[in-house]
Amino acid sequence: MLGLAGALGVSALHAAAAMPMDWTPSERARIAAHGPWPPAPAPDRSNRVSGQSAAIAFGQRLFFDGRLSAGATVNCAGCHQPSRAWTDGRATAQALAPGVRNTQTLVNLPLQRWFGWGGSSDSLWMASLRAIVDPREMGASVAPLARRVRQHPDLSCAYRQVFEQAPPADDDLLAVDIAKALAAFQETLVTARTPFDAFRDALLRNDHEAMARYPAAAQRGLRLFVGRGNCTLCHGGPNFSHGAFHDTGVPFFTRRGEVDPGRHVGLREAQASPMNLLGRFNDDASRDTAIATRHARLEHRHWGAWRTPSLRNVTATAPYMHDGSFETLRDVLLHYSDLPEERLHADGERLLRPLRLSPAELDDLLAFLRSLDGDAPLPDLNARDPLQARCP
Ligand code: HEC
Ligand code: HEC
Repeated sequence: MLGLAGALGVSALHAAAAMPMDWTPSERARIAAHGPWPPAPAPDRSNRVSGQSAAIAFGQRLFFDGRLSAGATVNCAGCHQPSRAWTDGRATAQALAPGVRNTQTLVNLPLQRWFGWGGSSDSLWMASLRAIVDPREMGASVAPLARRVRQHPDLSCAYRQVFEQAPPADDDLLAVDIAKALAAFQETLVTARTPFDAFRDALLRNDHEAMARYPAAAQRGLRLFVGRGNCTLCHGGPNFSHGAFHDTGVPFFTRRGEVDPGRHVGLREAQASPMNLLGRFNDDASRDTAIATRHARLEHRHWGAWRTPSLRNVTATAPYMHDGSFETLRDVLLHYSDLPEERLHADGERLLRPLRLSPAELDDLLAFLRSLDGDAPLPDLNARDPLQARCP
């Protein structure tokens, strides 16, 4: 009898121990590639003030400063609202005029190589300058912006502290430097660790107790994400985006029936601009940082292709896609489930197939996506401002 009870006890134990999912070596490798988090900070070599505390403080001030816009009415935070995960909750942006694209979040940007949905900028500072001069966003021009920085004592004082020289007479140079301070600030916006990160690290350590804290539904969703769903192919790496451009069958017609060609116009703009990394404003004298800009080639498949968004914190950044056409994550997943195959380019992506998710699978994927929530950072308004003493 005792023997039987003992045997039962042992098999019950085995059953409990067998409950956790077994992960194959290839699943483990794919999951491992989604970390570690946070990434090691690496200064942007194209920006000589990247990572410097005075530049970060100046950038934070500028981010909330309407004087960068044409009528001194719009600031960056009007659309990239800190309390809304640095987006605006709208389908498409609206400031001086209605835009056709969804406002991107600004977190984890040092991990990207191209900026904007179509990658029309090849550096974070170029993207920041684009926002200032875009007529639908802040509508400023470089010359009046530069004049304002020279004329307003607080701005010119801060400029001097950060760049260790008086604001230059060269308008373009001064405007780019302002954008570089904005970039230095935005680089600090890194999302916190998530339940997924804790699970990933536990999996690598074979720490079953810690792994068991990750909800079973999220584990099943993760298996789908790295397996049958093939999501990792594009949403790969620690930032859940390889930063590449793809067509996922979202129409490239805007609400007004015009065409938004996405990467096709983005790459042309980036390569044609004097503000790109090949130009005179790149602080990396070797121009190693410009290799991608020099070698990228325009291809037909770039029509209607968009930069793969990061999925960190994705629950906080609705609505979704470049045109904000999906209100909820469930809508996005239903899109992947029923993908309109005839909409995908004939010569384009062969990466996507309709997934035909069951309702349970859909819930599992949602549980997994929710496990990528790590708080978006808020600006630390109480932090000591290193500019305060000299430029109040
Ligand atoms: C009218 C709303 C609006 C304002 C104001 C605005 N932005 Fe944006 N921002 C957007 C939209 C929309 C996009 C996507 C643009 C695109 O795809 O071309 C974007 C994209 C960006 C990106 C690229 C992010 C990425 O993931 O690649 C950066 C960086 C950025 N904005 C910074 C700024 C800064 C800095 C300011 C202030 C100087 C600013 N924005 C002001 C709406 C706005
Ligand atoms: C072929 C590359 C590719 C694959 C595979 C892929 N995605 Fe995407 N994903 C993208 C691109 C590109 C976008 C943006 C499309 C747009 O803006 O129109 C996107 C958008 C999203 C969004 C919206 C994010 C936002 O901020 O707007 C979510 C969520 C998402 N994908 C989840 C998934 C999941 C889950 C899978 C697997 C079932 C998956 N993706 C497979 C490339 C891909």
